[in-house]
Amino acid sequence: MKIHTKAVHAGDRKKLGAHVPVTTPIYTASAYSYDSMEQLDRIFGQEEEGPCYARYDNPSAAALEEAVCALEGGRGALVCSSGMAALHVAVMTALTDRRRTVVAANSMYGATTSMLMNVFEPGGVDVRFADVCNLDSLRTAVAEAEPGCILIESISNPLLRVGDIEKIAAIAHEAGAALVVDNTFATPMIVRPLELGAHISVHSLTKYLAGHGDVMGGVVITDEAHFPILRSLGRTIGPVLGPFECYLTMRGIKTFPLRMERQCANACRVASWLSAHPKVQKVYFTADPAHPDVATIRAMFPQGMYGAIVSFEIAGAGRDEIFRFMDSLKMIVRATSLGDVHTMMLYPVMSSHREISPKQRERMGIREGLVRLSVGIEAPEDIIADLEQALA
Ligand SMILES: Cc1ncc(COP(=O)(O)O)c(C=O)c1O
Repeated sequence: MKIHTKAVHAGDRKKLGAHVPVTTPIYTASAYSYDSMEQLDRIFGQEEEGPCYARYDNPSAAALEEAVCALEGGRGALVCSSGMAALHVAVMTALTDRRRTVVAANSMYGATTSMLMNVFEPGGVDVRFADVCNLDSLRTAVAEAEPGCILIESISNPLLRVGDIEKIAAIAHEAGAALVVDNTFATPMIVRPLELGAHISVHSLTKYLAGHGDVMGGVVITDEAHFPILRSLGRTIGPVLGPFECYLTMRGIKTFPLRMERQCANACRVASWLSAHPKVQKVYFTADPAHPDVATIRAMFPQGMYGAIVSFEIAGAGRDEIFRFMDSLKMIVRATSLGDVHTMMLYPVMSSHREISPKQRERMGIREGLVRLSVGIEAPEDIIADLEQALA
């Protein structure tokens, strides 16, 4: 063969021997060849297991899907290029062969609310919002709207409201709707929505599951009935996650339970310190005995695991004071994400809920003096010391 041919073929397409790599390699191949056309035909026809084209199947993605499915107790999963892509595919999956109406929680991540109002609604989907923590008002909204999909967050962003997934799932089942739960904040260490009757669970992998601030990704996990729809939509739309991101997430997931335990414990320490600080007007934390959803939290969350997000309002603070406070942080990272090993702070009015109108933000309870803290794995004394000097 000439050098031009060697450059294209040498070294590639080696058959794996008897060895087993201890972790899944990064499969960058966009397509897969087989011994014969007969076999390729069986692979395309899904009569034989195996990847054929990276939009359909990729071994790095398949490994991650299997891992997340195991954590969430699901029957099938699809990894996507972001949490928002995953939410989009999840709602499309829920609405397939159902009434094109969504009843969504009235307090959620801003981009999720925007997606419903600016993407699904113009596409002909009727979108309504309801207080999913008040089952009577949810029942009324469902009776009126007859939705095909109910969309909630297991712990809401950023005010940390918690609806009773088992009871909401019962309402969904009775109404013939699919319940989609964004489980990003709670994670499967705290809540596994499918085990509580939800049909579909979603994560921004960008957050706790990957956990190191170096991945953008999402995943949809379903029960048995919805997996063929999810798989088919995934293959057609192609919201795939790249193999390198799959590898990083797999690597992150190995320490996810340890990180989450530490982050939850740190968050309890930080929240109780903040509650006693004279400049802090209100602390939003799921371990608070005065939390409006305390009964649900006690029944649904394992002992000592309340999540690792603490939101709080600084007394009398507006945008200028919040900017001054956040600019004074020395160790805590000012950034618009959460769930990483490092502690991070975000100003919802400026970032996660920027696209939401001030009026609607006010209705959601997201005020000018509110900040959201994602507690990391550092020594809790250092997190508290940084907050203390910045508040001073
Ligand atoms: C609760 C929740 N869901 C979904 C998303 C979207 O995830 P991504 O940024 O990976 O698209 C976010 C992002 O912050 C989030 O907080």
